[in-house]
Amino acid sequence: MYRIKEHPILKSFQKGRLVKFEFDGNVMEGFEGEPISVALKANGVMVHRYTKKHSQPRGVFCSIGRCTDCVMIVDGQTNVRTCITPLAEGMKIETQYGVLNKR
Ligand code: FES
Repeated sequence: MYRIKEHPILKSFQKGRLVKFEFDGNVMEGFEGEPISVALKANGVMVHRYTKKHSQPRGVFCSIGRCTDCVMIVDGQTNVRTCITPLAEGMKIETQYGVLNKR
């Protein structure tokens, strides 16, 4: 829906195969190997977590694995930086609320 399919300068993009994953109980599609955050953006998901103190929404900020604004729960693992974690088939991705320790 929000995905760029062809760029006037870069032309078309090489992608992995189309796979299904789950986000907060909803089945979505993305391309294997692309960052989880990219797959979420392509599906219209902008909020990845909520802050501990004021419950403010956070999404992608730096997109290079430095700021931790994009952390989510991925396959039960908390605090996963989704901007640098590749998407795989069947991943279960959840919004993170506050700072969580590993389950
Ligand atoms: S957006 Fe900054 S670490 Fe992912």
